Amino acid sequence: MDFKGRVALVTGAGNGLGRVYALQFAERGASVVVNDLGGDSKGGGVSSRPADMVVEEIRAMGGSAVANYDSVEFGEKLVDTAIKAFGRIDIVVNNAGILRDKSFARISDEDWDIIQKVHLKGAFKVTRAAWPYMKEQKYGRIIMVSSSSGIYGNFGQANYAAAKLGLLGLSNTLAKEGVKYNIRCNAIAPTAGSRMLATVMPQEMIDALKPEFVAPLVLYLCHESSEETGGLFEAAAGWIGKNRWQNAQGAFIAEHNKSSGKWEMTPEMVRDKWSAITDFSTNPSYMTSQADFQPKLMSYIEKMKGGSSSPQEGSEVSWSYNERDVILYALGIGVSTTQEDHLKFLFELSEDFCVLPTFPVLVAFTGSDLPLNKETTGIDIDPTKILHGEQYLEVYKPLATAGSFTTKSEVVDVVDKGSGALILSHMTSYDEDGEKVAFNQLSTFVVGAGGFGGKRSSDKAYPTQKAPNREPDSSMEEKTSIDQAALYRLSGDRNPLHLDPSFAAMGGFDKPILHGLCTMGYSSRHILAKYAGNDVSKFKAMKVRFAKPVVPGQTIRTNMWQDDNRVFFESLVVENGNKVITGGYVDLHSVSPQQAPANTSSILKSSSMFSEMSKRLTPAVIKKVGAVFQFNITQEGKVAETWTVDMKTPPGAVYVGEPKQGKPGVTLTISDDDLLAMASGKLDGQKAFSTGRLKLKGNIMLSMKLSTLFDANSKM
Ligand code: NAI
Repeated sequence: MDFKGRVALVTGAGNGLGRVYALQFAERGASVVVNDLGGDSKGGGVSSRPADMVVEEIRAMGGSAVANYDSVEFGEKLVDTAIKAFGRIDIVVNNAGILRDKSFARISDEDWDIIQKVHLKGAFKVTRAAWPYMKEQKYGRIIMVSSSSGIYGNFGQANYAAAKLGLLGLSNTLAKEGVKYNIRCNAIAPTAGSRMLATVMPQEMIDALKPEFVAPLVLYLCHESSEETGGLFEAAAGWIGKNRWQNAQGAFIAEHNKSSGKWEMTPEMVRDKWSAITDFSTNPSYMTSQADFQPKLMSYIEKMKGGSSSPQEGSEVSWSYNERDVILYALGIGVSTTQEDHLKFLFELSEDFCVLPTFPVLVAFTGSDLPLNKETTGIDIDPTKILHGEQYLEVYKPLATAGSFTTKSEVVDVVDKGSGALILSHMTSYDEDGEKVAFNQLSTFVVGAGGFGGKRSSDKAYPTQKAPNREPDSSMEEKTSIDQAALYRLSGDRNPLHLDPSFAAMGGFDKPILHGLCTMGYSSRHILAKYAGNDVSKFKAMKVRFAKPVVPGQTIRTNMWQDDNRVFFESLVVENGNKVITGGYVDLHSVSPQQAPANTSSILKSSSMFSEMSKRLTPAVIKKVGAVFQFNITQEGKVAETWTVDMKTPPGAVYVGEPKQGKPGVTLTISDDDLLAMASGKLDGQKAFSTGRLKLKGNIMLSMKLSTLFDANSKM
């Protein structure tokens, strides 16, 4: 990285860190203003010597530098020096600093003021003077030198810590204001052996901390190639790490008082929710702007405006996820690198990286805080007697590979089933734009909680559906990993029942069992693979009843029946024949063309071959071939039928007639008999071509690619 043509102003560059920044900028071609007041480390005295010496050092190595001896309080003078000497200013490193360490009670007004003046006001004055030039030239790089004392607090440095964290606030704001002028501003918190540290650290440590290990960070952040802005970086002893704010999910505390009609909040309510307020373990967020907080704020304001709904009646929680969560979920429901399409689900850099459509079921455990208790359901509930009975999921739009859901949850019905109570909860999730992304209905069965005289059924329930009375149209088997539950639980449902043998034994199970929603995930994948070419955007809705558990390591078979865009299914454990999901169905927006029976109106023998071809149109094949083929099939020397095999437009298609879109890449004219012979390997394609039995028009080479659709033994 070079800095030729750039002008850098480093304040306090006569000593310590600043000196090394100045030397390194100059070494790489920048013209440098070496500013230093030349006083002692407490802010006493002045001297031109420190700045002059650094300027001499730079000139001696062939660099370009001028000295400035003004205090940073007079920022304009420093910038003037740059403009007069070099005609511009590109980089400002606000490094000058002093210390007045004292325990808090002993800090005098003067100790306080001088620290704020040098660090905070100095950085303000210098940067404000440089800002118009940077704005005008649409280029600027600014560093604010903060300190770990400011970030974390440090005994005896109240004045200094306050100023140093003030610099972070200044930096964060300039980063935002500078964006449109290509002015980037970052803060650093260095640790380096210098005269400043000599007052607070033993000599051996100071010796071990070289400014040369901090300066490269400053240079990188100030280079034109760096887009970083608004960051805070700690750097010391050859190590650099970025800092950020972590925000707990927190809790909505206010409660709606039904008799007064008002929202109320008391210190006791705060105390009672303290663990939720301070919990960073569940879905913390990392806000980078006040705007990030707005949606949450607005939703609470809306809630309060509504007045009637109290947190007991419904709750709303934001849950953010990233690519890692998406991949972890895919692994949890059995996506494996042994599968053809795995990259789109496991590799964030894959071109078609996407989220499996059942991902939003996770909100039932991670994105919702709806407790099932007397307050929410009106009945007494023993939490150890709760079973996940059924699940219905509807997805309204393809899911972003990272983002956040705000989920509104409420108990909508409690049904008296005699032997137990069935609780229906609704969870509706919205994305960052406030658009509805998914809806879950969770049916929870509470054993022994029935007989309370409630209604016997609910019109809100999404019922399971009986599969057609015939052999399954297709089925798919997959062995789960012995570690499947251990992996799936990391997506949110950490119930020990799925991992801890002693806990499973208490629940009456021989071994820990797989999560029902994990089994649901397997079945959804089977249906997507068979009927949607693994195209997640085809998924619309899914319903399951969890009949029996799966034990990790067992093989799940999904039996499927297609009826238009609905695929009915049931899932079994192959090893014991147990039905684990019953009455299930998946609704697709459309069934992949390659799965629909090919147009059977054909009169040709080779039509069965086309139907066979249509089944081989996988996304991988489409990607590999990327062309449209037209077949003119002749009988008795005349074209009897034309077929199109579209291996270009996803998800691909095979149909009677000429291409619906564009021109074919290649047109093959061949008799019905010869095509069959060729596809089955009895007739060599080359031979057919050279003897004139196969005529090719267009890009002849493309016909070689057809072999992917023919039998393995065909000779295309
Ligand atoms: P240093 O004392 O070696 O160098 C600071 C320089 O600033 C001195 O040459 C001094 O003459 C100059 N200066 C002081 N007041 C000035 C003013 N009003 N106008 C112009 N120049 C002035 O200190 P060091 O350790 O190199 O620190 C550089 C910066 O890094 C400071 O802002 C300091 O607070 C910060 N810092 C340093 C840490 C460290 O471990 N050395 C730790 C955290 C922050």
